[in-house]
Amino acid sequence: MKILAIESSCDETAAAVIEERDQRPVILSNIVSSQIKLHKAFGGVVPEVAARAHIEQILPVIDESLRKAQTTLLEIDYLAYTYGPGLIGSLIVGVETAKGLAAANGIALLPMNHLEGHIYAAFADAVEEPAFPILTLLVSGGNTLLILMKDHLRYELVGRTLDDAAGEAFDKAAKVLGLGYPGGPIISKLAQEGDDSKYRLPIVDLTPRPVRDRDGYLVKPAPSLDFSFSGLKTALITLVRTKTKLTQREKKDLSASFEKAVVETLVQNSTWAIRKYQPKTFVLAGGVAANPKLRERLGEEIGNLFPQTSYLIPQTSLCGDNAAMIGIAAYYRIRNSRLILKNSRGLTAEPNLKIA
Ligand code: KG4
Repeated sequence: MKILAIESSCDETAAAVIEERDQRPVILSNIVSSQIKLHKAFGGVVPEVAARAHIEQILPVIDESLRKAQTTLLEIDYLAYTYGPGLIGSLIVGVETAKGLAAANGIALLPMNHLEGHIYAAFADAVEEPAFPILTLLVSGGNTLLILMKDHLRYELVGRTLDDAAGEAFDKAAKVLGLGYPGGPIISKLAQEGDDSKYRLPIVDLTPRPVRDRDGYLVKPAPSLDFSFSGLKTALITLVRTKTKLTQREKKDLSASFEKAVVETLVQNSTWAIRKYQPKTFVLAGGVAANPKLRERLGEEIGNLFPQTSYLIPQTSLCGDNAAMIGIAAYYRIRNSRLILKNSRGLTAEPNLKIA
């Protein structure tokens, strides 16, 4: 069985071919054409520019993915594509291309949720299939979510950001520090040479305050698993305003202190969620999962506090947006017969598509 997967939800045009071997999905090709250079000049993704670049790139990227996999459309059994969430103009290009290719070549269509792709990226090189329940911290430019799965393709949202996503916070902080786009990789590189205890930035805890019951006892609410990064961003802006000029040393120390606040917030809520839901597997997924400090700190905490939970991170090339992750999620959808297009849902782009 061969799957051609297409991903175009934001600023990467991507196509991949996945083949089933020994009842596991194997990546035959995974081509990503990044638009970072186009958007850099604007300091962030410009939706109109992104959509136009997808139109130019999508067919060459699909051709290359087929060539690299040494296959043709005639051998493809399923065409999986992201139909949300994401930028409407970007999504439409992938959706319409998939529909056209499927109709012209008689291939079955599989509309996929971009977020389930991020989670299933962790299934790519796992030696054994990850055990359920699986708890995923999904951190990207547009999302910060804690998702519980008791079985394949069944998602329960147990925590989410109330404002900015973690990746968005990194990107905005980089802008404030005059560092360029995308901010996450630049900040994490500078942070390696900075002092993370130089500035104390807030590690946000949204747990409501304890209240007294009628007998006068303090009742502590369960920890909140939701996130908020907008206050941290404001704290950084306020700090930077106190300085007339930022030296390179200060940029390094501010990057390290900012990264620490984001990472420790993510680690804090993840450990609370693991304690509550006792997953057999914890997955760190999404573009921000490429952050070395986050990978290391979560590994330390899980190793020390929850040695019975396995900790899984996709290889770095599968953390950011790519089509292999969409193809792998599609593989499990086919295998679990939660198939294939039966109605019109997924035939149009859904920019605000939810996972649960
Ligand atoms: O998953 P992704 O490629 O696209 C979305 O679906 O959003 O994630 C991109 C985000 C950007 O905000 C980028 O700054 C962040 O991931 N990112 C990082 C790192 N590498 C990428 N954030 C922190 N540290 C990194 N090393």
